[in-house]
Amino acid sequence: MSGLVPNARSRRIEESATLAITAKAARLFAAGRDVVSLGAGEPDFPTPSPIAAAGVRAIEQGNTRYTAAGGVPPLRAAGARWFEQTFGLRYTADEVMVCAGAKAALHMALEAVVEPGDRVLILAPYWVSYPSLVTMADGEPVVLAADPQRGFVHAAAAIEQAVRQHGIKGIVTNFPNNPSGAVPERADVQALVDIAARHGLWIVSDEIYSTLLYDGARHVSPASLPGGHERTVVVNGFTKSHTLTGWRTSFLAGPRPVVEACCRIQSQVLGNPCTISQAAMLTACEQPLGEEMARRMQAFDERRRFLVEHVNRMPGLTLTPPRGAFYALVDARALCARRGIDAVQMCEQLLDRHLLAAVPGSAFAIPGFVRLSYAASMAQLEKAVQRLCAFAEGA
Ligand SMILES: Cc1ncc(COP(=O)(O)O)c(C=O)c1O
Repeated sequence: MSGLVPNARSRRIEESATLAITAKAARLFAAGRDVVSLGAGEPDFPTPSPIAAAGVRAIEQGNTRYTAAGGVPPLRAAGARWFEQTFGLRYTADEVMVCAGAKAALHMALEAVVEPGDRVLILAPYWVSYPSLVTMADGEPVVLAADPQRGFVHAAAAIEQAVRQHGIKGIVTNFPNNPSGAVPERADVQALVDIAARHGLWIVSDEIYSTLLYDGARHVSPASLPGGHERTVVVNGFTKSHTLTGWRTSFLAGPRPVVEACCRIQSQVLGNPCTISQAAMLTACEQPLGEEMARRMQAFDERRRFLVEHVNRMPGLTLTPPRGAFYALVDARALCARRGIDAVQMCEQLLDRHLLAAVPGSAFAIPGFVRLSYAASMAQLEKAVQRLCAFAEGA
């Protein structure tokens, strides 16, 4: 043997495309270039001070020891109350566990429900990590192609056909959706739950953007609908809404045996989620942001409208108004066709020639599209729009 090599499974795990682009933009920035980075999905607002102060207090009071694997009981109970008050989802405290971010919660959930070789349906466009997370759980990801015509919400018939054709065992859903901002109507979610019930499927529902909604959109969790509660594992939390990104916290909720299995897995791989961050998350549960949240939503909405207005004036680009999260999925197919390039090349050119970092849709299984994150200041977005316009109008 010439040296230690990673195994076959780890070779199938790809680096996150969004992190790779953000890293390249950061390198250019460090080299003194005026880069505008709309690659990452991280709000530009700070962590709200009462939440940060709770973390500081935890350190000062010596609340820094190991906790139970599934999180401290008061936080699990607060999580159960939060799910009920915010989404009408009823869980007992032991049906809710604390994880280290939505990403880790998705990992625990998939480790707990996927049997080796199970085919797992992922609805495109999808958040970049799902196929790798399914692969790591020994499942086989099956991607259902995106349906831009239907506003990125699939027809029930298309989902059911894929379930039948591929012998699907479970579905990963994400609404409000990253990257499209799609938010399905209740009837669409019920149709999905009905399919899952008919075919005995589990659902892992990533709802991390569920409080970031616009234009009167309503979030409906599959777990809140008839037939949904008993087959759904919900992942949610405050990373995106409250800028708890670096604190690494989240909730996972679902049927008790699955949550117990997730706690056992977490006890072996992580021990427990960060104790200090749990103290901060408890404050996030108990002290709603109120006006601060309204300000954040107003800022996101202003930026969203700004992008919709300006992008739709650019030749060869269109943007359907997103209804949730903080991403704009720009349809660049006409522009790319005219230039004879694909959206990956477009993003390379945008970064290299115009110092604008955006993520090509191929990272989300939606080639020909480009994702812009509007979790960035208006000043940055104004520059971004100028640069995108210069690219679109250029030769
Ligand atoms: C859809 C989706 N799920 C999960 C995550 C991960 O969130 P967290 O930082 O809570 O791990 C992200 C982050 O970009 C996301 O967009």
